[in-house]
Amino acid sequence: EMSPEERHFQEKVDAEVRIEPKNWMPEGYRKTLIRQISQHAHSEIVGMLPEGNWLTRAPTLKRKLQLMAKIQDEAGHGLYLYSAMETLGADRDEEIEKLHRGEVKFSSIFTYPTLTWADMGAIGWLVDGAAIVNQVPLQRCSYGPYARAMIRVCKEESFHQRQGYEILLTMMREGTDEQKAMVQDAINRFWWPSLMMFGPSDANSPNSAQSMAWKIKRHGNDELRQRFLDQTVPQLEFLGCTAPDPDLKWNEETGHYDFGEIDWQEFFDVLKGHSPCGIERIQQRKSAIDEGQWVRDAAVAYARKQEQKAKN
Ligand code: ACO
Repeated sequence: EMSPEERHFQEKVDAEVRIEPKNWMPEGYRKTLIRQISQHAHSEIVGMLPEGNWLTRAPTLKRKLQLMAKIQDEAGHGLYLYSAMETLGADRDEEIEKLHRGEVKFSSIFTYPTLTWADMGAIGWLVDGAAIVNQVPLQRCSYGPYARAMIRVCKEESFHQRQGYEILLTMMREGTDEQKAMVQDAINRFWWPSLMMFGPSDANSPNSAQSMAWKIKRHGNDELRQRFLDQTVPQLEFLGCTAPDPDLKWNEETGHYDFGEIDWQEFFDVLKGHSPCGIERIQQRKSAIDEGQWVRDAAVAYARKQEQKAKN
């Protein structure tokens, strides 16, 4: 049974009226948004690490500048999203603490290692490509601050996707046989994890139905996964590469690509923390904070001194 407030809330949502921070909202709606937006923010900032790994080894100055700009964008997305989360009453430091204690999730995709330069291309193309397909509908999310944050985020993700694809295209067109093989290897490793990014299939997605009724989510996980696949396969063919999926083929009847079974065991293992680099990523964040403590201490000491000087 819905309370009068709840009914009014749902009517607004149904009429596509945005919910704003000071409006009444069900506790479940608030909790779901804090969960999703904090997870999303954590993914953006943890996502900086696998790419940061290649900054010092980018092949040219131009590539280094591009990659650095992209990684800085991801930091910006994280800060945007933490701000949106704060409008719901959550505390940023507390939520980041939970990440560092390993109590909350971040995207499965960022627990995989980045082994070669081609991985920078594959991540830009596939991972940011998947992120766009997932985030474009979030621009119409019922919660105003989240929806608005997604507009700029999606624009920047489009640049990320193009820079990634262009890295791979250059390697395929101008590269040596070894470099071409590197591209195919990166695709082989990131193909399935990219499809997993969309989350469990609808039947195993406990949050989807309610999130769709609240118009936090606009589509089920499977629908977006299929949309991503349909737009990605022609790009894969244009590159001259293949997918590590023998069942991938165009289906004339459905107008979509059919694809093989996702290894859900691997996905759920990653979520439980049994992943190649999940623990290492969190460790890296924690040690960056610890190692930077002296800088923050020094900044505070300097500010105090300036304050004293001004008083004297
Ligand atoms: N990695 C880690 N956890 C995941 C993933 C994934 N790829 N997909 C789903 N999960 C988690 C969910 O968070 C949920 O866990 P919880 O209930 O303990 O919080 C559980 O698996 C079940 O999944 P769903 O019921 O389908 O969860 P939800 O409705 O939240 O849908 C989705 C998952 C699609 C990822 C949604 O949260 C979303 O759209 N989030 C915003 C986008 C985002 O976070 N992107 C991050 C990666 S992209 C990037 O940053 C570059």
